[in-house]
Amino acid sequence: MCKLGVNIDHVATLRQARGTVYPSPVEAAALCEQGGADGLTIHLREDRRHIQDADLFALKESVHIPLNLEMANASEIVEIALKARPDEVCLVPERRREITTEGGLDAAGQRTALQPTIARLMQEGIRVSLFIEPSDTQLEAAVQLGVPIVELHTGKYSDLIGAAREEELARIASAAAFGRRAGLQINAGHGLNYENLPAFLNAVPWLDTLNIGHSIVARAVLVGMVQAVREMKELLAP
Ligand code: PXP
Repeated sequence: MCKLGVNIDHVATLRQARGTVYPSPVEAAALCEQGGADGLTIHLREDRRHIQDADLFALKESVHIPLNLEMANASEIVEIALKARPDEVCLVPERRREITTEGGLDAAGQRTALQPTIARLMQEGIRVSLFIEPSDTQLEAAVQLGVPIVELHTGKYSDLIGAAREEELARIASAAAFGRRAGLQINAGHGLNYENLPAFLNAVPWLDTLNIGHSIVARAVLVGMVQAVREMKELLAP
């Protein structure tokens, strides 16, 4: 069975929106574990728009399942990762103005810049993954860079409809098979939700882990609403 890595960035988004101390990513992580998550993911962005450095260190101390840190290949963040020592690091591209990660990392074009970072992280026993487009060129670059894991970008699949969506699905399936033959662990993620997941699972082979965040946090807000309102009502009418 394919594993689920839950990305809890948007729990921190909610907290940062008000500058409060809640909701706590550490508490959310514990609930994810209770729900059966196989791993947890956070993205420490250079602009710190959601997850903060302290969250990373607190989560590293508190979680009992593998912690995957998404990050750009930026020296400041690399140093923090080496200090925090998450179980995995997934290198992603980052643009300041983007709403969320747009597209995969150009592993083929950025080989020279990626090599030393990958080597340093791996020397510390951190498993490194590259978040890439499902293309043979990017997969070949990942193999040459010696990483054990790739995360195939599913954002396009999630945005497309009809025949274009089917084409993208076939492209991801073929990339997964190519990566598997090359000995890579195949993860995937971005934009996956309760509606588009079944077709994805039917079509794509060799998946180890899916990293899913926004749709789970959004669903949690709705399924928790009745309880949250009840608790406030109880305070109003003791
Ligand atoms: N994988 C990677 C590399 C990402 O950057 C993200 C978004 O932070 C995700 C998975 C999760 O995407 P979503 O929040 O759309 O499920």
